Amino acid sequence: TPVAILLSGRGSNATALIEACKQPDFPARICLVLSNKPDAPGLDMARAAGLRTQAIDHRPFKKDREAHERAVHAALQDAGAQAVCLAGYMRLLTPFLTTQWAGKMLNIHPSLLPLFPGLHTHERALEAGVRIHGCTVHLVTEGMDEGPILGQAAVPVLPGDTTEALGARVLRQEHRLYPDVLRRYLDKSAAPTPADAALLVA
Ligand code: GRF
Repeated sequence: TPVAILLSGRGSNATALIEACKQPDFPARICLVLSNKPDAPGLDMARAAGLRTQAIDHRPFKKDREAHERAVHAALQDAGAQAVCLAGYMRLLTPFLTTQWAGKMLNIHPSLLPLFPGLHTHERALEAGVRIHGCTVHLVTEGMDEGPILGQAAVPVLPGDTTEALGARVLRQEHRLYPDVLRRYLDKSAAPTPADAALLVA
């Protein structure tokens, strides 16, 4: 299945997806890596991996988010994408794009949703004093970080944790979870088993 990746930054989750696609039995191939940031390191990484890349800078569109999304949507269609993975794509989506890709757009978020939607999740998890934190892959709907949950991975919050240490622990799980969930999503296989949420509690 042709899958496109949208990113804005370093692209470590994109890298994990690209690596997974090298497995002969993985049900996706990456048909496009697109960024709203022309200088995103993730775009360079994808280019170096020999993938089709494209930048559609949001800035010239000023405040017309939908016009930018129409350009993004056209690029996705042109690349033949049948599903889209958001991987650190730092734009709020309008109903235009979420409707066009309803049920076909996945996002990874660095918290156990519905806790901590939005930004600075690791900092907020530490402030809240939760003992378990993690990441979530979900379908994208109009509400930010609100769509149906497809998979989660949990990590412990350890005594003395910093935002960086906790974030790195979660990120390692993101890189494992996203390819796992994408595979299951594309294979439309049975509902997730309890083992899908690898609970790594100290
Ligand atoms: C990840 O923490 C992801 O969960 C969030 O944005 C970050 C992107 O990191 N949505 P990367 O660009 O994949 O390295």
